[in-house]
Amino acid sequence: MSLVGKHLIDPGDFTLDELNSVFQLAEKIIKKEEKFSEICKGKILATLFYEPSTRTRLSFESAMLRMGGKVLGFSDANVSSVAKGESIADTIRTISAYADIAVIRHPKEGAPKLASKYSTIPIINGGDGGHQHPTQTLTDLLTIRILKGSLQGLRVAFCGDLKFGRTVHSLITTLSRYPDNKFMLISPRELRLPENIKYSLENYKNIEIIETENLESVIDNIDILYMTRIQRERFFNEADYVRLKDSYILNKDKLKYAKKDMLIMHPLPRVNEISYEVDEDERAVYFKQAEFGVYARMALMALMLGVYKNA
Ligand code: CP
Repeated sequence: MSLVGKHLIDPGDFTLDELNSVFQLAEKIIKKEEKFSEICKGKILATLFYEPSTRTRLSFESAMLRMGGKVLGFSDANVSSVAKGESIADTIRTISAYADIAVIRHPKEGAPKLASKYSTIPIINGGDGGHQHPTQTLTDLLTIRILKGSLQGLRVAFCGDLKFGRTVHSLITTLSRYPDNKFMLISPRELRLPENIKYSLENYKNIEIIETENLESVIDNIDILYMTRIQRERFFNEADYVRLKDSYILNKDKLKYAKKDMLIMHPLPRVNEISYEVDEDERAVYFKQAEFGVYARMALMALMLGVYKNA
């Protein structure tokens, strides 16, 4: 089992054994990070971000720097030759000569996959439009594994923008590969999980799904509440965004009815969907989740580059 020579475009690109190898290595790194401080010496990560990011870009950069490697790239495509009309194919052909591994975030669904066709180095999808965000899923699963002790037998509720939320699409399909997980989908009618994903979960995987617009009606029976932001940048008009933006606001009052050990997760950035008062609640783990993202990405790159083989 090796991740060398693979791209990560969709979480389904990795088998469960391969995913587990990433989590096992991430847990080793968390225990003794100093052992890993030189393993990427001589390696270069390219971060090609055609869309804004704080966590994904900076946690990738932090991950590579913590392993002794170097980083180059752009966080605004307008300062690269993309502004002159260069295609993603030509950009990645060029970057392949400058770096050993690249992470790409792009507003267009499928752009990282297209880049992988022209690349001679491993490509990681750092989020493509409203489609997929596989390394957020690695982060989320590592968080659940560490804080819940298992990735199976969980009642997971996804709340907010399930239509455009790429983190939700990647996470729900990956959690469906582990046994006995059940899902609750909480969203306004217009922002429901895409029908193709729901159909596949219900009909091909026989997974129990409850769909509701009402968070309060299900909050007492959830192991993990995965809150998401309404994705303003994917809406076709501002009026719809304004109407839907405050559909769900998690606050202390609503949490009174939740289980004592429920995890409150969020891929971040948050806008208004979790009140700041919730941050003090022990169940709120979204900043811990962002921290685990560095370790998930360290493990991922170490395995994809083949610099650590005994995960
Ligand atoms: N979770 C996440 O993708 O955050 P950023 O948009 O800040 O990278």
